[in-house]
Amino acid sequence: MALSLAINDLDAGYGAVKALRGVTLHVEAGETVALLGTNGNGKSTLMKCVAGLVRPTRGSMSLTLDGVAHDLTRLSTEAIVDLGVAMVPEGRRLFPRLTVKENLMLGAFRKAARQNIDRNLALAFETFPALQGLQGQLAGTLSGGQQQMLAIGRALAANPGLILLDEPLEGLAPSVALNVEDAILALKERGTTMLLVEHNSEMALRVADRASILELGTVVASGTAAELSADTALVHRYLAV
Ligand SMILES: Nc1ncnc2c1ncn2[C@@H]1O[C@H](COP(=O)(O)OP(=O)(O)O)[C@@H](O)[C@H]1O
Ligand SMILES: [Mg+2]
Repeated sequence: MALSLAINDLDAGYGAVKALRGVTLHVEAGETVALLGTNGNGKSTLMKCVAGLVRPTRGSMSLTLDGVAHDLTRLSTEAIVDLGVAMVPEGRRLFPRLTVKENLMLGAFRKAARQNIDRNLALAFETFPALQGLQGQLAGTLSGGQQQMLAIGRALAANPGLILLDEPLEGLAPSVALNVEDAILALKERGTTMLLVEHNSEMALRVADRASILELGTVVASGTAAELSADTALVHRYLAV
C-alpha cells in the first residue's frame, strides 16, 4: 500500500516566477522525508506539483505503487488522489460550514477507499480521539488545534499511501503541537510514506528519516535527519533558528 516518490530535476513556477529549479528528491516507501527552508523557497510549490495542482515545466515525477511506476506529470489531481496521495494543505482548507463528520467523509470518498469507509474513519478517530466527540460540530467553529487534527484526519480517511503535510504545526500551541507530532509518529510506525514541510525544523528532524533544505527553489543540502541536526552551521544558515 505504501507509495514511493521519485522527483528528478524538476522546474516549476508561476508565469515569470521560477519557484523550483532542478529539484531532485526521493521518498522511499515507508519513509518520512522533511522538506525544510524559510518562507518563499518553494516547499509548498513542490507539494502542489506532486498533487498535480502545479504543473512542472521540466523534469520528471513518478509514484510507484505495487511495483508499477505512474508518471505524475501526466495525471490529473483526481487520478493522483486515486493512487493514494493525500495532501494536508497549508492553512488546513477545511469546509467550515460542514461538520467534522462531513469533512472526514469527503476525505473518505477516494474510489479505492470507499469500500472501507468505516475502517478508514476509525483510523482517523484512533489517531485523534478528540475528533470522535466533535463529529456533529461545524468545522469552522473548531479551535486551531482541532482543525489541524481534522485536516490530518480527513487525509487519513482516504487511507493514503503517501501523505503530504504542509506546515502541520503552524499556529498551534505547544501542547497541541505535541499531539500532532505524536500522530505523525504513529503514522510513521504504521509505515505510511510521508513528505513533511515544517517551519519547526527541530520537530521535523525529530520525526523524519531524511531531510532536504530548499533555498530559492533549489535543494542546497540533504542528508539523514541525524546528519542535518548535527550540522549547526547549516541549520543556522538556512533555517533561521
Ligand atoms: N500562486 C502563485 N503565484 C505567483 N507566485 C507564487 C504563487 N505561489 C507561490 N509563489 C511564489 O513562488 C515562490 C515559492 O513559494 P512557495 O512554494 O509557497 O514557498 P514556501 O512554501 O517555501 O514558503 C515564492 O517566490 C512565492 O512568492
Ligand atoms: Mg509554504
